[in-house]
Amino acid sequence: MKIQRFSRIGFVMAAAGSAVGLGNIWKFPYMTGVYGGGAFVLVYLITITFIGFSVMVAEMLIGALGRKDTVGSFEALAPSNKKYWKYAGFMSFNGIIIMTFYSVVIGWIFYYLVRVLFSLPSTPNEAKEIFNTLVGSSPAIAIFCHTLSVVIVGYIVHKGIKGGIEKINLILMPSLMIILFGLLFYSFTLDGFSKALAFMFEPRWDKLTSEAFIRAIGHSFFTLSLGMGAIMTYAASLPKEASITKTAFIVTFMDTLIALVAGLVIFSFIFQFGAKPSQGPGLVFISLPTILHNFGYLGTFFAFLFFLAVAFAGITSAISLVEPVVQYLIDRFNFSRTKAVIFISFIYWVIGILALLSYTNSFKEVLTIFNKPLFDVLEYMTDSILLPLGGFLIVIFVGYVLQKDRVKAALESEMGRFYPIWMFSIRYIAPIALIFMMLNLIGIIKL
Ligand code: PFF
Repeated sequence: MKIQRFSRIGFVMAAAGSAVGLGNIWKFPYMTGVYGGGAFVLVYLITITFIGFSVMVAEMLIGALGRKDTVGSFEALAPSNKKYWKYAGFMSFNGIIIMTFYSVVIGWIFYYLVRVLFSLPSTPNEAKEIFNTLVGSSPAIAIFCHTLSVVIVGYIVHKGIKGGIEKINLILMPSLMIILFGLLFYSFTLDGFSKALAFMFEPRWDKLTSEAFIRAIGHSFFTLSLGMGAIMTYAASLPKEASITKTAFIVTFMDTLIALVAGLVIFSFIFQFGAKPSQGPGLVFISLPTILHNFGYLGTFFAFLFFLAVAFAGITSAISLVEPVVQYLIDRFNFSRTKAVIFISFIYWVIGILALLSYTNSFKEVLTIFNKPLFDVLEYMTDSILLPLGGFLIVIFVGYVLQKDRVKAALESEMGRFYPIWMFSIRYIAPIALIFMMLNLIGIIKL
């Protein structure tokens, strides 16, 4: 199977499309709210700069040198006595686990996209009622919206790298940026803007619990799409002349910028009307629509644009979650693209329905595992365990297993004097931080 190549701009947009997603516009703002603002943002920024960017270069490198699906790339690059490294390639299956809840949330967004056109809630209670009805008591609508998301994402992936993935990213990514920056310029005019700035950038250390710390590191992997082979799979189609370092830098920069812009926009609106930033996952579904109600028709317009941006961001990330396993099935088992897409979509559609039902009043009890709804278990597992583990395997592979000369030949000329610093990060900083994080998670050490 011959892998198609992206154009240079197509690759940047696709990788950025993967990175910029619900993680930036839905999760980052609510997590910043829950974990107290500035200090959380600072840990997140430090991790992105010193670990995230380096890991992204490493992940792109494996794809660009291996030029296969994730399992195939690890296998092709591992020295002959270490072929078991191919099993690391199974990290791509995490994409399916992520999709089980990711697609459900995209479904909620589709629902809101239409719902806000009719009316915005005028009180927080009414907003809660709308959200709780969708999530808790009328699963039929949520299932329909989740199904719609599965079908749209599946359709784009089935069109392939050039005709589907590249094309859609070239349209949706610029549209998303125009909408978000438009909203940012508007929020400059609000009094809430300066409060939002202070909330996000003045660190209050007392708020930085060990949980906040771990979640900030975990989130930096999630937001950059690291540790499950999405970036690796795209990089297998990297155009020959493209620079890995430069592309990784642009993607990391865009992803961080968009998260910060989304945070500033949301918190400006939130503070404008004295609402609380610590709402949790409902922040953009409950607090934001209520606040926008105060703006009349303009509010409806903003709400629609906002959810449109989130939908675009979600779809471009979702396709990157599905593509790696699809590519694996095509490469390994000679599946046709269409068959691979249907097979994978069916799996996460079914588990997604279970995840969605785990929030409903009627099925809550059966679908609770370790005292948490299945939905939360899936989310926590990927964000805090599987992605960091995938990231760990990537840095160990590039730092210690892959022949040094190959790595050097690929990156030294691009990086110049930064090459040794990057290598140091891959060999020491990133693995130590990740081990530390995982030990903390399983409770062996406590911060
Ligand atoms: N980076 C995406 C987001 O921020 O929403 C989520 C994601 C996509 C995670 C692809 C992992 C991945 F491989």
